[in-house]
Amino acid sequence: MNVGLIGSGPVAQSLGAGFLKHGHAVMLGTRDAAKLAPWRGQNAGARIGSFAEAAAFGEIVVLAVKGDVALDALSLAGPSTLAGKIVVDTTNPIAAAPPVNGVLKFFTSLDDSLMERLQRTYPSVRFVKAFSSVGNAKMVNPQYAAGRPTMFICGNDAAAKQVVSGVLDQFGWETLDLGAVEAARAIEPLCMLWCIPGFLQNGWTHAFKLLRK
Ligand SMILES: NC(=O)c1ccc[n+]([C@@H]2O[C@H](COP(=O)([O-])OP(=O)(O)OC[C@H]3O[C@@H](n4cnc5c(N)ncnc54)[C@H](OP(=O)(O)O)[C@@H]3O)[C@@H](O)[C@H]2O)c1
Repeated sequence: MNVGLIGSGPVAQSLGAGFLKHGHAVMLGTRDAAKLAPWRGQNAGARIGSFAEAAAFGEIVVLAVKGDVALDALSLAGPSTLAGKIVVDTTNPIAAAPPVNGVLKFFTSLDDSLMERLQRTYPSVRFVKAFSSVGNAKMVNPQYAAGRPTMFICGNDAAAKQVVSGVLDQFGWETLDLGAVEAARAIEPLCMLWCIPGFLQNGWTHAFKLLRK
């Protein structure tokens, strides 16, 4: 697949390298291409473009920008370009205020989520929440003695979730589909839970796994 990533930070860089490793064609989108020169040097064949160029390049698109600018980034990417496309939403609604005793602040409530805001604004985009509840260093083929960790996903489009589940399978995850976009109200706060051991004990290498009988 051609994969366009809107973003240049650690998540876009990790997932971009992962898609390349698995044989996909990749373009990272940024407002400042110069800062991705080192990453491109380490990732032969990768393309760098603007948000709009990455959105146009992608058969599927990954959104990996700061949560509070996610709508701005989608606007720069081009709503008409994104219409009908799968957008893997990795973002979390982290507020500017600092964490309290290791607990991040969100700018959403438990009755709303960032992905619902994105979906309401762009109804024809096929958003799938994924990769939001693990650190970037463990997003691609993480190795754990307990086996594959679980990625919680949601979204309104069943076919889009099927495609993203295929990517997750390639990237070494088992997928748990939690249903429609409203499930992002539960998935996004997993980021808060995931970060607490990081802030309190400097532990950033864990992942969630759902155990079943
Ligand atoms: N870091 C992690 O391990 C991790 C794990 C799971 C989920 N997430 C979530 O994934 C998302 C990406 O995280 P990240 O750590 O890779 O990077 P980040 O620092 O949260 O975001 C960097 C990206 O945000 C864009 N950006 C910043 N201000 C902007 C503005 N005013 N308008 C448009 N774009 C703007 C930057 O664009 P330019 O390229 O143009 O500078 C850059 O591409 C976040 O929502 C985060 O909560 C992060």
